[in-house]
Amino acid sequence: MHSFIRALPKVELHVHLVGSAGIDTVLELARRHPEAGVPADRDELERFYTFRDFDHFLKVYWAVQSMLKGRDDIHTLVVGLARELARQNVRYAEVTVTPYNHMTDGMPGDEVLAGLESGRAIAAGIGVELAWCFDIPGEKGLPAARETLAFALNRPEGLVSFGLGGPEAGVGRAQFAPFFDAARDAGLHCVPHAGETSGPETIWSALRDLKAERIGHGTSCVEDPALLEHLALKGIPLEVCPTSNVRTQQVASIGAHPVRQMLDGGVVVTLNTDDPPFFGATLEGEYLAVATALDLGHADVARLAENAVLASFLPNPRKTPLL
Ligand code: ADE
Ligand code: ZN
Repeated sequence: MHSFIRALPKVELHVHLVGSAGIDTVLELARRHPEAGVPADRDELERFYTFRDFDHFLKVYWAVQSMLKGRDDIHTLVVGLARELARQNVRYAEVTVTPYNHMTDGMPGDEVLAGLESGRAIAAGIGVELAWCFDIPGEKGLPAARETLAFALNRPEGLVSFGLGGPEAGVGRAQFAPFFDAARDAGLHCVPHAGETSGPETIWSALRDLKAERIGHGTSCVEDPALLEHLALKGIPLEVCPTSNVRTQQVASIGAHPVRQMLDGGVVVTLNTDDPPFFGATLEGEYLAVATALDLGHADVARLAENAVLASFLPNPRKTPLL
């Protein structure tokens, strides 16, 4: 099964750019920015990177974020991600970028775009097509929404969608409706996180108020049979990130993950990594873990991979040479 999964051409629909930074990338950044205090020694960095708990995850995430100062740093991140995707035969990825966090850290928007674009060109050269989702860090509220939208309306090359991430508790989805409306009017797809760290009502709100076309995570949908049925009937795909959900303690284990109920309920499930090196995840690993837990055969696994192709915002997914 492992070699089958490795050979399968894959699509990743839910991976955060900062959260994709692996050890090699962070070593490069740490040597470039020693003032950030991130370990520039491999062994030490590996210890720092080992997942302990959610607070430690945030600490590492913000340490990486603090080293992103200019276009070269964004370029380094994108190229590091693309190499890892190529290694796993992931041919296309929609990558979530949070421009507001870079800009509030002092990086001009033009630098962000230049790094994304140059990195994307290198990715294409090694057989990985990248597209961008610009997301609002929900915990930063309406100012973040305003700036993220304004930045997205520049319509940079490769931008396909508009998202909403961060914590869900106390961060209602509905307040962001006007920003999602404007993004949609500009031709962007809408893909908020919902139901990762809160209940099904957040998913309903993402569908109703933000007109979500896919849901980031959606884990709690299984708590509401009417919602499960709605997602299945409307063909709204879920970007399921099993290892992330275990690491952040939303579910006890891969075996206990509601992915089985989602599939049994007829929901379009896609498998994704979220913040892969932070959680010790790879896309291959997600496929293998779910295949093992659910006792899936090759055809079922191929169907999951196909779901991601069809749920993608590739202009003509049925005609891509990915499958
Ligand atoms: N940003 C980075 N990782 C995230 C996650 N797991 N949930 C919400 N926002 C995020
Ligand atoms: Zn996420």
